[in-house]
Amino acid sequence: MGQKYKVRHRAKFGINVEKRFWGRGIGRALTNACPECARKAGYKQVELEVVSENTSAISLYKSVGFIEYGRNPKAFLSRHGMWQEVVLMRLEL
Ligand SMILES: CC(C)(COP(=O)(O)OP(=O)(O)OC[C@H]1O[C@@H](n2cnc3c(N)ncnc32)[C@H](O)[C@@H]1OP(=O)(O)O)[C@@H](O)C(=O)NCCC(=O)NCCS
Repeated sequence: MGQKYKVRHRAKFGINVEKRFWGRGIGRALTNACPECARKAGYKQVELEVVSENTSAISLYKSVGFIEYGRNPKAFLSRHGMWQEVVLMRLEL
């Protein structure tokens, strides 16, 4: 038997708003809707990954209850050989 039931409670969250629409409250509206939406869908935990430099996104996620549970300092490697750190966050529903 498969083991998929073990991770069925976990949802992944990610948003990407087209740049010309930034700063109009779209990201806030989507993030605010996330907990209720995931709860209704039967999930118990929502998880996300965000680049640590993206402080406005991190504070947006914290404002709806996401908490940091770890960091991956070498999550991304750019074409120019630069590492980018990623913050791992979770929200318990
Ligand atoms: C992060 C992102 C989703 C925000 O979307 P948005 O529609 O511009 O967000 P909003 O207009 O709802 O603003 C969200 C909050 O960030 C703040 N904010 C927005 N632009 C900002 C800026 N340039 N500098 C600082 N804070 C900023 C706002 O004040 C707002 O806070 P508030 O709701 O408490 O007032 C968007 O910038 C994006 O898609 N970025 C690229 C992809 C990405 O980074 N995704 C998230 C990582 S997984």
